Amino acid sequence: MPTVSVASQIEVLSELEPIVESLIASHEEKRVLWFSSDLLPYSNSGDTTELQALRERAKSIPDNARVSLALNLMTEEGLPHFHRLLAQAFGTDSFWTKWNFLWTAEEDRHGNIIRDYCRDANIFDFKALEQAQFEYLQKGFMPSWTGNPYKTFVYTSAQERATQISHEATAKLIGENEPTIAKILKRIATEEARHFVFYMTVFKEILKRDANAALEAASEVLPSIDMPGVSIKNFAEYAEVITRSGGYSLNDYKIIVEQLIAQWKVDALTGLNDIGSKAQEKIMAIPARLEKIIQHFERRLKAKSFRFDVIFNRTLSF
Ligand SMILES: [Fe+2]
Ligand SMILES: [Fe+2]
Repeated sequence: MPTVSVASQIEVLSELEPIVESLIASHEEKRVLWFSSDLLPYSNSGDTTELQALRERAKSIPDNARVSLALNLMTEEGLPHFHRLLAQAFGTDSFWTKWNFLWTAEEDRHGNIIRDYCRDANIFDFKALEQAQFEYLQKGFMPSWTGNPYKTFVYTSAQERATQISHEATAKLIGENEPTIAKILKRIATEEARHFVFYMTVFKEILKRDANAALEAASEVLPSIDMPGVSIKNFAEYAEVITRSGGYSLNDYKIIVEQLIAQWKVDALTGLNDIGSKAQEKIMAIPARLEKIIQHFERRLKAKSFRFDVIFNRTLSF
């Protein structure tokens, strides 16, 4: 049981209104609002030359990059879960609603544009993808931090950074033969980075006001995170192929935890009570623990093959 109730967390959060207002203002000021139709060939004239050229280039996208792109797409399309989780954590009758709506509108474009691209480029068995997405949404997503505001900020800080890295890494796997999608993924990654700054900064402010409870929350979320999309069919296989291909991996997560520790200056926090000190110690030990898991995984790595229905069950061998 947390030592600090959700009610008292909400009290701390309500003090943050002026800070959140200014964070939202600077977020919107720096934003370049783009849409799918700005970045993809879109013509009312019936001329399909550009579209056909895109389709031709897309043939060069390797299967491991397609797997990564499929997982990124389904994860982005899980947005209803995340809109609901934010509403559950922050309520629907305070200034936080403004952020949730704004964030949701921005995120919605991520799924839209990747989906538009994948259809235009004709790189998937689209029906298989649609079925997987349907199942993912129908299954729901109720992580352990549901309804807990502090834990939600810890999770979203880590997760925004993780999606940023994941989109960047997918762009790299696609390579230079298909610049359209690489450019799209970089645009999305830039927005994820700005979402990261928002959540990470809010949690920094919480630490200033309620360090013991905030550290306790972080110590419970950070050791092993429920990745968005964890309930997608064959998620573990997707994740493994991506890791084996040099895309997003547990090593990236370790780096994220190290960055959060540095940003939040976890090791420098003083004047903590017993619970806060124990949580601080637990957080500081996470990177070394992750390193052990990474090494264990690498030692046990054997040749393995994978098949995914979204890429017509072609075999990927490592
Ligand atoms: Fe996103
Ligand atoms: Fe984001």
